[in-house]
Amino acid sequence: MRRTLIFFVWVMVLIQFIRVEYTNPPSKPENDLIAITNPPEEVQKILKSSCYHCHSNNTVWPWYSQIAPASWWIKHHVDEGRRHFNFSEWHEMDARHVERFVEEAEYEVLEGDMPLPPFTLMHKGTKLTEQQKDVLITWLSSL
Ligand code: HEC
Repeated sequence: MRRTLIFFVWVMVLIQFIRVEYTNPPSKPENDLIAITNPPEEVQKILKSSCYHCHSNNTVWPWYSQIAPASWWIKHHVDEGRRHFNFSEWHEMDARHVERFVEEAEYEVLEGDMPLPPFTLMHKGTKLTEQQKDVLITWLSSL
């Protein structure tokens, strides 16, 4: 039992040397979703607190994102989130992409799949209420 514990602690220490690189690539404010689509104040607030951490270049990296193995997992979520669509590079979205985004986002929001549940667990107040879902979906369908 004690050996297993010591082994576990050692593994935890050793994996801290596998660093991940966090990036918040620079982006022009005028290319941002909010600058381009000018959503209502309430929508902006929801997007910024519940979506921008993973779907934009303005990620606020929490302290535990420095600790392996959480770091690997968080980095992966942000990379994947940005790869699907990036609110900071909204000028690259053509009509077809916006349409697809709206369809998928409506679905994800209704199902409670976005923001990702592990994220809402760690970030108080980011899980969408029914009322916030309505606000977001009304805005999405106006895009
Ligand atoms: C913790 C990170 C995180 C947060 C916060 C987050 N997302 Fe995502 N999102 C992801 C990841 C990772 C993917 C890609 C993998 C997947 O589909 O599960 C994704 C994919 C998506 C997709 C594309 C789904 C598809 O099938 O292509 C949509 C739409 C989306 N997110 C919308 C949102 C919206 C709207 C919010 C805020 C209400 C949000 N996300 C918040 C990480 C996040």
